[in-house]
Amino acid sequence: MNKDLRRAIIAGNWKMNKTPSEAAKLIEELKAAMPEPDCEVVVCVPAIDIPAVAEAIKGSDIRLGAQNVHFEASGAFTGEISASMLAEMGVEYVIVGHSERRQYFGETNETVNLRAKAAINAGLTPIICVGETLEQREQGITDDLVSMQTKIAFNGIEKEDAINCVIAYEPVWAIGTGKTATAEQANEVCQLIRDTIGVLYDDETADGISIQYGGSMNAKNCAELLAMEDIDGGLIGGASLKAPDFSVIIEAASK
Ligand code: 13P
Repeated sequence: MNKDLRRAIIAGNWKMNKTPSEAAKLIEELKAAMPEPDCEVVVCVPAIDIPAVAEAIKGSDIRLGAQNVHFEASGAFTGEISASMLAEMGVEYVIVGHSERRQYFGETNETVNLRAKAAINAGLTPIICVGETLEQREQGITDDLVSMQTKIAFNGIEKEDAINCVIAYEPVWAIGTGKTATAEQANEVCQLIRDTIGVLYDDETADGISIQYGGSMNAKNCAELLAMEDIDGGLIGGASLKAPDFSVIIEAASK
């Protein structure tokens, strides 16, 4: 099965939660609760928490991620953080185009593409988020929309880089609502994303790229979602803030 060849990645998106001292404490709890993971484990933390978390994860299997990155290398962009700044702090992953950034901070498909390219240029792995709102699902445009988001996000990205990117399918209506997509619904869109990558690049890239599901994934529903053929991991919000729950998800993803 192709699924066995792909990296399973469980990433926590802490969103705007945890001060630096609280962040260090959560990492300690996670290290104590975590099984020997047979998957990649990432925590995407608030920028201000990065130094504390970089220190706390030393010697563990946990990798460091950020939640956003600016697309310019440097300059007059007050409040922004560049990819090379993140890389120098030991950050390896960065979430790009999360629906909350699209909704509240004017993120567009074009800026998602620019941020993904900036991340790749600095040696970071972008976790590129795509997904439809409830209204868009009800209009029947999920496939067109997600395929367009994917195509624009990967515009100008070379095949060698594309295969190392991560895509997170996050239906907006399932985020923080407790309303999870069914495993079949989630897999269907992840498969569509994989097919889109196949059209943009080739079968090898489509088979090799890791696609996560995100949206109310938790300790109870994770096993069913992660067992699906086209779901290679999870991007987890609320449940990643509780070490025991996050550990169960890591365990479920460990092959
Ligand atoms: P929840 O797991 O809290 O629904 O959040 C999902 C998410 O947005 C992860 O990026």
